[in-house]
Amino acid sequence: MQTVRYTQNAAAALSEIVTKHAPDQVFVLCDSHTEQLCLSLLQSAGRVITIQPSDAAKTLDTLASVWTALQQGGATRHSLLVNLGGGMVTDLGGFAAATFKRGIRFVNIPTTLLGMVDAAVGGKTGINFGGLKNEVGSFREAEEVLICTKFLATLDAPNLRSGYAEMLKHSLLSSRRMWSEHLLFDLADPDFGQLQTLVQQSIEVKQSIVAQDPHEQGIRKALNLGHTIGHALESWHNAHHAEALLHGYAVAWGLVAELYLAAAQTEMPTEVLRQTARFVFDHYGRPAIGCNDYDALYDLMLHDKKNRGRDINFTLLHEPGDVLIDQHVERTLIDESLDFLRDA
Ligand code: GLY
Repeated sequence: MQTVRYTQNAAAALSEIVTKHAPDQVFVLCDSHTEQLCLSLLQSAGRVITIQPSDAAKTLDTLASVWTALQQGGATRHSLLVNLGGGMVTDLGGFAAATFKRGIRFVNIPTTLLGMVDAAVGGKTGINFGGLKNEVGSFREAEEVLICTKFLATLDAPNLRSGYAEMLKHSLLSSRRMWSEHLLFDLADPDFGQLQTLVQQSIEVKQSIVAQDPHEQGIRKALNLGHTIGHALESWHNAHHAEALLHGYAVAWGLVAELYLAAAQTEMPTEVLRQTARFVFDHYGRPAIGCNDYDALYDLMLHDKKNRGRDINFTLLHEPGDVLIDQHVERTLIDESLDFLRDA
C-alpha cells in the first residue's frame, strides 16, 4: 500500500523523506497560490517551479514548462519532485515526474481537502487534452504522500465543502457507522481536530480500494460513486457559466442522484437517500438545472470515459459499505433522479 505520512510539521516530515530517498536534487512544484500560502511551511526544501493555478492550466504547455524547468535545473533520474498543491498540481506534477527521463520519483503534499482525500492518493496522474478532462495520463504512485492538515487553514468554506463531498462518498463506500459519523460532522463550523481524524479514515478507505485494484479493472470503479451524474452536472455547469463549479459540489449532487437510483433499483434503504440528501441540500444547495437540460446531461453521461460502448456505467449502493459496480440504469429512472435533485 502507498505510504501516507500524517504530520503537523511538513518541513520536518519532508526532510525525513528526503534523507530516506537521498535524491541528488529536490524540486518543488507549486502554483502561484500555494507558493504564496504554503511554501513557507516547507522552509527551503528545494528548487521551486511555479505554474499557474486552476484546472485551465492543466495543459500540455504547462506540462512542457515543468519538463523544461527540470531539464534546465539539471534534474536527473535520481532527482525528486515534490508536488505542493491541490489536485491540479499533484496530477500534473505526477505526470511530469512519471514521464521525465522515463520517470523520476515524486512526493505529493496536497494542500486542499479534495487533494488530500482523493487526487494525491492512488497514482492517477495526467493533464486535460482536446477539451477533455484528464484525457492523457498514467498510473504512477508517489513515493510518499504527506498529509499536513495545517494547510487546511488556508482553505475557504466552499473548498472545504468541496473536499468533504469525496469524504462523504468514501464513508458511503465504507460502512453505515462511518456514513452516520460523516453526516454528524458540523461542516458549517468545522472542528479541525475531528476533521483530521476523518481525513485519515477517508484516505484509508481510498487506499484499501486502490490496493485491491490499482488500474481500475474492477472494484476501483466503486470510487466513481456519485461521479457519473456528478461529472455531467460539472461539465454542463462549466459550459454554461463563466465561473467553474467546484468539483465536490457536483459530486455531492451526483451522490444524491445516484442514491436515488440505488433506492429504486437495488432496494437500498430510502433513509440512506433521505439523510444524505438532507445533508447535501443543507450544505451544498441544489444544482440550477431544469428539465430542458436533461437531454444534454444524459448526453454527457453517455460520453463518460468510464463507460464501455453505449452503456452508461453506474456504481450503485445496496447499503453503505455494500457496493455494486457496472450497473445499467434506464433513462426514465435517471430523469427521475434529476427531478428529485432539483425538487421537481
Ligand atoms: N478519483 C477516483 C480514483 O482515484 O479512482
